[in-house]
Amino acid sequence: MSLEIRCCDLNVEAAVRDRYSAAAYQAEAALCCPVSYDRKFLEIIPSDILERDYGCGDPSKHVRAGETVLDLGSGGGKICYIAAQVVGAAGRVIGVDCNDEMLNLARKYQGVVGDRLGFHNVEFRKGKIQDLKLDLERLEKHLIENPVRSSSDWLRAEEYANSLRVSAPLIADNSVDVVVSNCVLNLVRSEDRRQLFAEIFRVLKPGGRAVISDIVSSDDVPFELQADAKLWSGCISGAFREDRFLVAFESAGFHGVEILERQVEPWTTIGPLEFRSLTLRAFKPQPVTASDFRHAVVYRGPWKRVTTDFRQELVRGEQVDVREAEFAMLAQSPYRDQLVLLPNANVEVGAAPSGSMFVSLNLAPEAGGCCSPGSKCC
Ligand SMILES: C[S@@+](CC[C@H](N)C(=O)[O-])C[C@H]1O[C@@H](n2cnc3c(N)ncnc32)[C@H](O)[C@@H]1O
Repeated sequence: MSLEIRCCDLNVEAAVRDRYSAAAYQAEAALCCPVSYDRKFLEIIPSDILERDYGCGDPSKHVRAGETVLDLGSGGGKICYIAAQVVGAAGRVIGVDCNDEMLNLARKYQGVVGDRLGFHNVEFRKGKIQDLKLDLERLEKHLIENPVRSSSDWLRAEEYANSLRVSAPLIADNSVDVVVSNCVLNLVRSEDRRQLFAEIFRVLKPGGRAVISDIVSSDDVPFELQADAKLWSGCISGAFREDRFLVAFESAGFHGVEILERQVEPWTTIGPLEFRSLTLRAFKPQPVTASDFRHAVVYRGPWKRVTTDFRQELVRGEQVDVREAEFAMLAQSPYRDQLVLLPNANVEVGAAPSGSMFVSLNLAPEAGGCCSPGSKCC
């Protein structure tokens, strides 16, 4: 399914930059879709930031202690400062935004929030979320020393940018536990969206996840609305059609794509079109390392049959053999509770390797579970 459904002359990047540069100074109510955050996390965040809340959901609810979190389009830094409290001193949070005024606002309070928290685990980096390899501040430094005065200079600057992407990427491959974003993906130009999803996939560790809150539309947004700078920068006309948003993650290689929250009443409507906030989660798979079918699962229901992201059909109540890497995936959230896990189901007990399957897959057994081969406790 194509993500490039747009065709208009709007300069999306200029429209978005101008709107958010102004909104960093002067709070703009029209950019706010009401969200209820956990109030205990707001206490240490300065009002300057809270007043400039341009989010539409709360992906920070889905991060955990000790994790490395990347917030795409971090704006004034509110989600980063909430996540910083959840991940704690052992975790870290990186906010990426390409807008100088927003970065200034977020960084202005970095020391204050860190002091109130008792540790400093947040940083803000300048980059475009569809190009998370390019460190725009390093490029800027180079351009000050090597100003562009001709097309040849410009070509050399491009070469330098490419070398930076390789030698010092803004966000390294496989380095992040959870990518969050709050109301930003819809602002990216349609022609950059395929790369945007590929970048989210690239920076996540295998097994890592994306938790994204964004605005989705009930149908395709007509071209005349897409050409409206105010509607685009206002998170409306760049909204993903809801079904396409889910498919975009699947097409980028994610599995376990799941809607976590979906506004019942639309945030706004234009004619028959409804625009609402949706929060989804999607996982980056672990690499497949083995192809034997030594393990099995039984799907508990309630559906009669379901199809997994690796295109295997599970019929309620039927035992199905699965590969090692797929089993490792199914033994974790969000699948685990829907399945009876049968590690080493196809290996005779006497022939099973020493140590339980949970040990070799580095998985903890489910609470109350007792399924290691040879175990007599069930
Ligand atoms: C609607 S605001 C959301 C800000 C923040 N996430 C929040 O919850 O308040 C969008 C933010 O994304 C940034 N942004 C938009 N497009 C971007 C892009 N392509 N790359 C990096 N940042 C972008 C804007 O500068 C702005 O700070």
